[in-house]
Amino acid sequence: MALAIVTGGSRGLGFTTARALYEAGHRVVLVAKDPVRLAQAAKELHCEFRSIDLEDLKQTQEVFTEMLQTFGAPQILVLAHGVMSEKMSKTLRTTPQEWRRVMAINLDSVFCAVNIFGAAMAEARDGRIIIYSACLGRMSGPGNAGGLAPYRISKAGVNALVRNLAHETAHGARGLLVDAVCPNHTRTDMGGPDAPLSVEEGSDTAIWLATRSFDPEKDKTGFLWEEREIIDW
Ligand SMILES: NC(=O)c1ccc[n+]([C@@H]2O[C@H](COP(=O)([O-])OP(=O)(O)OC[C@H]3O[C@@H](n4cnc5c(N)ncnc54)[C@H](OP(=O)(O)O)[C@@H]3O)[C@@H](O)[C@H]2O)c1
Repeated sequence: MALAIVTGGSRGLGFTTARALYEAGHRVVLVAKDPVRLAQAAKELHCEFRSIDLEDLKQTQEVFTEMLQTFGAPQILVLAHGVMSEKMSKTLRTTPQEWRRVMAINLDSVFCAVNIFGAAMAEARDGRIIIYSACLGRMSGPGNAGGLAPYRISKAGVNALVRNLAHETAHGARGLLVDAVCPNHTRTDMGGPDAPLSVEEGSDTAIWLATRSFDPEKDKTGFLWEEREIIDW
């Protein structure tokens, strides 16, 4: 049984990922903001939780540090929280406040989680970090093609963080796996009711990355994945 910390675990893709890990027999700890929704989700998975406003970096550092002391280093860290930026947030029309909000939640807190939990996981030489990115953050294909600037750029930052960290940790050779996931357009509060994918379909690759067997001689880590395949950044 592994310890799995899942942010964004109160609903959507994060909750579905956490549920799959719970059903696979792992001990799960959920993180999200809304304490009522989070408590309900945690009750369903018979697990512990921490309510944090991930926009608040100081609070995030404090609670993540407390979690590490209380639970120890996780073997699985899934970062599935995130916010979309305002519809009209083209680069030239985005307010500094909107930029900061999205960057704080989507990128700064990801750094904070990796910095605190990832360091302990690397030390233990045993762990896998899976971060929900987005195709809108890619530097190729439909990625940074304009509009939703804070969201797209925060996810491009997530991709860069994953690639950089993978190089720093020898692409899995020292026991720490780190990967980004593009779930594709999924029916959640963020994706909306008309999205083509169910939450089970959207979370499949992240769940697979969290639970796959890994042979450093032949398997790959340190990439952006979609439908269990590596795609261009
Ligand atoms: N759905 C899609 O089509 C799609 C496509 C590409 C990428 N993604 C990415 O996949 C991930 C999951 O998306 P989703 O569709 O499942 O989103 P969602 O249904 O909107 O859920 C967002 C999650 O993030 C948490 N969260 C948001 N702001 C927070 C804050 N300030 N502090 C703490 N937690 C916060 C929410 O917690 P509360 O319940 O407490 O608010 C919730 O658990 C995100 O990173 C998203 O960018 C989604």
